[in-house]
Amino acid sequence: MAFLADALSRIKPSATIALTQKARDLKAQGRDVISLSVGEPDFDTPDNIKNAAIEAIRRGETKYTPVAGIPQLREAVARKFKRENELDYKPSQTIVGTGGKHVIYNAFLATLNPGDEVVIPAPYWVSYPEIVALCGGTPVIVDTYIDKGFKLQAEDLERAITPKTKWVLLNSPSNPSGAAYTWDELKAVTDVLVRHPHVWVMTDDMYEHLVYGDFKFVTPAQVEPNLYERTLTINGVSKAYAMTGWRIGYAGGPETLIKAMDTVQGQQTSGTSSISQWAAVEALDGPQDHLAVFRNAFQGRRDLIVSILNQTTGITCPTPEGAFYVYPSIVPLIGKTAPSGKKIETDEDFVLELLATEGVATVHGSSFGSGPNFRVSYATSNDKLEEAGNRIQRFVNSLR
Ligand SMILES: Cc1ncc(COP(=O)(O)O)c(C=O)c1O
Repeated sequence: MAFLADALSRIKPSATIALTQKARDLKAQGRDVISLSVGEPDFDTPDNIKNAAIEAIRRGETKYTPVAGIPQLREAVARKFKRENELDYKPSQTIVGTGGKHVIYNAFLATLNPGDEVVIPAPYWVSYPEIVALCGGTPVIVDTYIDKGFKLQAEDLERAITPKTKWVLLNSPSNPSGAAYTWDELKAVTDVLVRHPHVWVMTDDMYEHLVYGDFKFVTPAQVEPNLYERTLTINGVSKAYAMTGWRIGYAGGPETLIKAMDTVQGQQTSGTSSISQWAAVEALDGPQDHLAVFRNAFQGRRDLIVSILNQTTGITCPTPEGAFYVYPSIVPLIGKTAPSGKKIETDEDFVLELLATEGVATVHGSSFGSGPNFRVSYATSNDKLEEAGNRIQRFVNSLR
């Protein structure tokens, strides 16, 4: 349609939102649907955080806030980076936005010129290439491999960097693969980046607190202090504190970049919700005991779904270190035919047929830039996971 902006033709709608909506529509028609497509914890926001928001309303904290966030939250963010990541950011080196997605968007809006390249390892979170394209940049996708744990390899990164590379975007633990880098694995990547001083590092640490067993989370500027001056460390409260609807994300980085992002945000959304910001102060500064409760529940669910999927002939499911997703491969199932007569030619055919016949909603790997795989979100109860796992098995066994 001629009325619409050209920029729109460069982006795709979010496949995860589309699949979640399809599942909702089927449910509304009375179908028994189990949704494993959503990217949010099924837990409720802890009460101490809700109460901090209610108190903020009662105190009249209901006005515009400074664009980059209330001073109390920027101080809490600086304390968090020091306490959990050994990173020294002054409050003036932090910014608060309307969710992590907004912070990523503003960082690109503030820095990308036409032709600038952003290196993105695949499988990637669906929004990364689209945000880069909307901001006028060029996404450069670098494949990772299941037998390397879906982690970016130094030599592949080295090959992808050109004089036009402006950013490398890292995400550990990853949406959709759940892969998280150990210190040594991340050091191999940062060693490459040290050799390319024109390249900046954007790290999306949204799933930091969701790592399992004795895995230790690390972030690039911590592993390689030489990158501190050109790293934007992004995080948020959405996933760790079960606060997806509150819309708070934040970042720490060099002051000049933060100031540029502040300028962009000032002509755009301004400061995010005052009430959510006070809730986030409590999330970061208050008791942290629920983190272990969430983590233990997720770890049990991960082990359950990985075990069921791996008992299914044709599915190979690695055990990821973190997040609440698994990303099984379905190579042997491509080319088979479902009882409906539908031929499964792609991973998208697989997830659509699975949803139509068994009422299990997942997301196809091709929307994350790598397949044939599908993403299963295990942010749901053990009972539902078990039932969904059985339905997936039944579906796969019905393919001929
Ligand atoms: C990797 C990753 N980064 C960022 C976000 C966005 O988080 P927020 O809800 O805070 O915008 C998500 C949400 O799904 C995500 O998976």
